[in-house]
Amino acid sequence: MVADPHGGRLVDQVWKGERRQEGRIRAVESLTVPLSDAALADVECLATGVFSPLHGFLTEDDYHSVRDQMCLADGTVWSIPITLPVPEGVREGNRLGLTDRRGGDLVALMEVESVFEVDPVLEAERVFGTSDREHPGVKRLFQEPVLRAGGPVYLLRDPRRIFSGYPAYPLETREHFQQLGWRTVVGFQTRNPVHRAHEYIQKCALEVVDGLFLHPLVGPTKADDIPADVRMRSYEAILESYFPKNRVCLGIFPAAMRYAGPREAVFHALVRKNYGCTHFIVGRDHAGVGDYYGTYEAQELVRSFTPEELGIQPLFFEHSFYCRRCQGMASFKTCSHSSEDRLILSGTKVRGMLQSGITPPPEYSRPEVVEVLLEAYQKRYTHERGRSGS
Ligand code: ADX
Repeated sequence: MVADPHGGRLVDQVWKGERRQEGRIRAVESLTVPLSDAALADVECLATGVFSPLHGFLTEDDYHSVRDQMCLADGTVWSIPITLPVPEGVREGNRLGLTDRRGGDLVALMEVESVFEVDPVLEAERVFGTSDREHPGVKRLFQEPVLRAGGPVYLLRDPRRIFSGYPAYPLETREHFQQLGWRTVVGFQTRNPVHRAHEYIQKCALEVVDGLFLHPLVGPTKADDIPADVRMRSYEAILESYFPKNRVCLGIFPAAMRYAGPREAVFHALVRKNYGCTHFIVGRDHAGVGDYYGTYEAQELVRSFTPEELGIQPLFFEHSFYCRRCQGMASFKTCSHSSEDRLILSGTKVRGMLQSGITPPPEYSRPEVVEVLLEAYQKRYTHERGRSGS
């Protein structure tokens, strides 16, 4: 028995066979709108039920309700506006052929039920807690047209397999968890290569449930995040040597990263329910960036919803690290020693070490993972040097 999808029903709007052919004919005859990489990721998440109960881009009523009250117009909790920016000229009642900006291929059909303008400053302040354009989510918001179209989307091709061999969509994971006989599954969101603090909270959580669903995000991120393939290789390396195979499932999360901290933590929890998770990990500064959010602000927001509203059990973890006196991993909650005893490295510091070819210590990251990271940095450095001709 895996968790019920958010809103009770798993959306499946991937059209197949004859329906797909008919849809393609209709889409070709319609106005075409090219999708940004983030919008393409949204379309696939909408059609495959990742974003259930959403079955399309938000209409105006739902948009205002999500932006201002963190729920859909019918009261179902939803914290992140999923909207489609469109060019001038799109009108209610239009049918759109949504295409892949890169190859121009037809991706989906959309029935436009609502066309409206957003106020980017207000959306930024409500959703991201800031209108500072240095914030990567706010920056993207300000780059997009203010006109939005809402309505259902129907996928007219198979969803992409960005990393073949790994489950990417709710129907796959729900079946997989059921086959494994897992009744309780904890989901773990990440956009970074795995380090010891991640491993620690993952294993603490696994102590109290049947299975661990490692779910790295592989959709669009900001340019200086470590690329998705390196993130995945870091997990392959650690799983090989440090986790029991029958208790862990590595999947991929095809959505775009928003960096909305607290609101994105709520969203991350809800969508993991759609994948079949019963529990979800929220650690320090979940989905945060820079110092826009307090260390535990995401936890506080998640905690403000009732268990019925969320329908997934959050597991909160305090800032974790290696402590020399404890001789092991610990957290602010469990360790009584001083900061000199603790090994806490920032992401920036670690990136700096990797760039200079310095190996981060095994207390920070497993040597097998460090090897993957050093190799990736070396390749990138050689590539960049090659390009600049030096
Ligand atoms: S995130 O943007 O996807 O949240 P990241 O991949 O760094 O970033 O974090 C994945 C999860 O691990 C999040 O729940 C985050 O809060 C948690 N986390 C990361 N580092 C730590 C740490 N040192 N201590 C406790 N939790 C952490």
